Amino acid sequence: MGAEILGVDLVDLNDARFAEIEHALFRHKMIFFRDQAIDHADQEAFSLRFGPFAADAYGKGMEGHPNVHAVIKEADARAGMIFGSGWHTDSPFLAEPPAITLLRGVDIPPYGGDTIWVNTALAYQTLSPVMQGVLQDLKVHMSMGKVVASLRALDPDWSRQVESAPDTAEKVAGSFHPLVRTHPKTGEKGLYCDVTYANGIEGMTQPEADALLGFLRSHITQAAFSCRLRWEVNTVAVWDNRLCLHQAFNDSDGFRRELYRTTVTGEAPA
Ligand code: SIN
Repeated sequence: MGAEILGVDLVDLNDARFAEIEHALFRHKMIFFRDQAIDHADQEAFSLRFGPFAADAYGKGMEGHPNVHAVIKEADARAGMIFGSGWHTDSPFLAEPPAITLLRGVDIPPYGGDTIWVNTALAYQTLSPVMQGVLQDLKVHMSMGKVVASLRALDPDWSRQVESAPDTAEKVAGSFHPLVRTHPKTGEKGLYCDVTYANGIEGMTQPEADALLGFLRSHITQAAFSCRLRWEVNTVAVWDNRLCLHQAFNDSDGFRRELYRTTVTGEAPA
């Protein structure tokens, strides 16, 4: 889970180098680059190498760069919940969730504010063949419902924004996706289940689904499948939402944290 790529300038990539990067992403699920002094336009250009921009489910982009989204926590902000809290894959409540996310560090706390990932393909591979068989044809219900409820309790301003968005009801209704997901480019299988959005399993009672999802969540998020990134200014991380989960920490009070994110369109999970 995770790999650092050295000796690359993201604004000067020929096709062969990009192909190596994409291969590394598919193999390691999250890759990162240090010392990339790039701007919004460069990030957009690098992002577009992976595919067209996805529509962001949570907010508007930057002026002049509608596909670049700020992830900012001010030094004096005290929030019960931050963007990226809790183990999740990006926007799985959509029919076609974003495939890939890119995040670029601009202002980084001296400590705190790391991000962690887990590899859901490794999690799948380490299940017994019997459990793999049990999961094979199940569909997981992914919904924004728990996020909306948490925001209501923890962040009334943010909650008002999310709840007044015209498509929030649709995102709460969510989507049913295969619990065992096959990567469209590599054929690798992984568990499509997280803590933030997975809400139930098609055809199961809630207690049945909770028991199975509970087991899967603790299996997927074990340390052996994880990596943790200490951000620096000009670090760029790229991850493949189809085969990993990630989580941000709300532990950088007193320091500004500023990152910029782009997402790449995905397909209906299969
Ligand atoms: C995210 O979930 O995309 C945000 C991650 C972070 O801010 O570390």
